[in-house]
Amino acid sequence: MSDVPTLAAHGLNMPALGFGTWELSDEVLDRMLPEVLAIGYRHIDTAQIYGNEAGVGRAIATGGVPRSELFITTKVWVDRYTPEDLLASVRESLDRLQTDYVDLLLLHWPKFEGQGMNPTLEGLMRAKADGLAHHIGLSNFNIDQTEQAVAFCGPDALATNQVEYHVYLGQERLRRVLARHNLILTAYMPLAKAGVVNDTVLWEIGAQYDKSAAQVALRWLIEQDRVAAIPATTNPHHAQSNFDIFNFSLSAEDHQKIGALEKHRRLCAPASLSPDWDD
Ligand SMILES: NC(=O)c1ccc[n+]([C@@H]2O[C@H](COP(=O)([O-])OP(=O)(O)OC[C@H]3O[C@@H](n4cnc5c(N)ncnc54)[C@H](OP(=O)(O)O)[C@@H]3O)[C@@H](O)[C@H]2O)c1
Repeated sequence: MSDVPTLAAHGLNMPALGFGTWELSDEVLDRMLPEVLAIGYRHIDTAQIYGNEAGVGRAIATGGVPRSELFITTKVWVDRYTPEDLLASVRESLDRLQTDYVDLLLLHWPKFEGQGMNPTLEGLMRAKADGLAHHIGLSNFNIDQTEQAVAFCGPDALATNQVEYHVYLGQERLRRVLARHNLILTAYMPLAKAGVVNDTVLWEIGAQYDKSAAQVALRWLIEQDRVAAIPATTNPHHAQSNFDIFNFSLSAEDHQKIGALEKHRRLCAPASLSPDWDD
């Protein structure tokens, strides 16, 4: 059993630490996911566009962990955003994932044609009503888009906005909005794509606790209110070390030092998909 704390929002209970799978092939997942489940990860983050839902599905089917103990997130890609196609795409995802439902279903990017986001949000809510997803949420939505989605779906419908968040990207204004609506911030690229691993400030902090810079970067995230982190790795030792962050705490002084690091280094901003970012 995992000893990862869970985050609650609108009926959802999400393990605060998950395993990211972007850029990991089915073959890598066949190697990594048994290790990751043995370490104790129960939350796995995938997406239709990653092309690896089948690899996640094999781990669900054969990994030896009861489905009820797993927390699986997938994301609908932007070319499946009409309500009918969204539902068809989720059924295809479930086939690949070898499961009857995902725990969390997200809209991957706020990229809407013609009629705007409401028809797609209707499709997302229908996926939940039909039992294809136990919970639903957003990804890469800016503040205005988040407010619009919450206003359309209702105050308890959406559980999270998954966005880039790490020690070098503050997201202060968005974090306040998410907190006001009791939405979890799921932090993607929580290691800033390995950019944190040689950070001397993080190393000095970690040395006090016999922890690495990466562990400090992850600990900093999960010590925050309603923040989850989903680091990815192809290395079982890194997967273990990323998991070993629940037996130490950062001091107020540590938080102050990390708070003083540069906070505007956005790494994921594809021009064809990005909204107007808030910072
Ligand atoms: N919603 C979205 O639009 C979106 C966008 C991007 C990402 N995501 C999600 O967020 C997940 C995480 O983001 P990411 O994979 O882009 O970046 P990340 O988790 O910040 O960084 C991954 C990189 O860090 C390295 N790494 C991991 N643990 C390490 C450790 N303990 N020590 C040293 N290096 C370590 C990995 O290399 P090794 O393999 O060598 O360990 C890899 O190069 C993705 O997999 C995906 O699930 C979502």
